[in-house]
Amino acid sequence: MNSSFRMNSLGEGYRALVIGASGALGAAFCEWLNEDPGCSVVRELGRNSVPGLDLEKPDSIASAAAELAEEAPYQLILHAAGLLHREDIKPEKSYTSIEADALQAIFQVNTLGPALVLRHFLPLLDPRGAMAMLCAKVGSIGDNRLGGWYAYRASKAALNMLIKTAAIELARTRPQTRLLSLHPGTVISGLSQPFKGACAARPASLAARELLSLIDRLAPADSGNFFAYNAERLPW
Ligand SMILES: NC(=O)c1ccc[n+]([C@@H]2O[C@H](COP(=O)([O-])OP(=O)(O)OC[C@H]3O[C@@H](n4cnc5c(N)ncnc54)[C@H](OP(=O)(O)O)[C@@H]3O)[C@@H](O)[C@H]2O)c1
Repeated sequence: MNSSFRMNSLGEGYRALVIGASGALGAAFCEWLNEDPGCSVVRELGRNSVPGLDLEKPDSIASAAAELAEEAPYQLILHAAGLLHREDIKPEKSYTSIEADALQAIFQVNTLGPALVLRHFLPLLDPRGAMAMLCAKVGSIGDNRLGGWYAYRASKAALNMLIKTAAIELARTRPQTRLLSLHPGTVISGLSQPFKGACAARPASLAARELLSLIDRLAPADSGNFFAYNAERLPW
């Protein structure tokens, strides 16, 4: 970890909030932000934090936001939670494997929960601040070359629609706000570990630093767009 890390676009003493702070990328974000002398507070949220935020329990999203409103505004909000697989859920290789329960769970965590995060946490964001949500390149419809992973792909494509729609509204009401959809690249984590691409995965610490530095460089005019960690604009 390099102690010279500093974000410049959020003001001195900026306050940060990380949702999904227990994950590989979420924890790496928190480490970098704790290193930044310009950051005064890093609030970590997740299923096991106090207050707790469980994307499968919509009431917990509203109540966590209500509790954290006392400390608002935050200049940086990062949403680093997501679900690709768990014990009872495997990414589908074929449409013949689509299961209602798995589809529902993946959409709840990757799309419906984040929609409520937008609803309840955007009011806590400083109008000159930045909120970034981790999406995935496999959620790009234009870039879908391989097929498979039906639920995950569709849930992330729908997440992008929510982000884009909210960014249009924010451009009218709070034009200095940045709301971004970010692809971290393939990163070493529990989420990527079982899959073929994982052998080319980068450490979460590196990816988190690249993403934070990208957020720092992006302007309000970039709000509502989908970017990879290397600043490449990704197609919807
Ligand atoms: N790793 C990659 O290669 C890669 C590539 C593209 C995109 N992404 C995206 O990057 C984000 C972070 O992924 P990661 O690699 O850091 O994965 P990870 O290490 O598995 O972390 C996932 C995070 O999501 C949280 N989460 C899962 N279900 C939740 C729920 N119901 N309520 C609240 N939090 C929940 C987990 O919390 P618990 O600790 O409580 O389970 C954990 O904090 C995800 O959105 C993922 O889709 C990752």
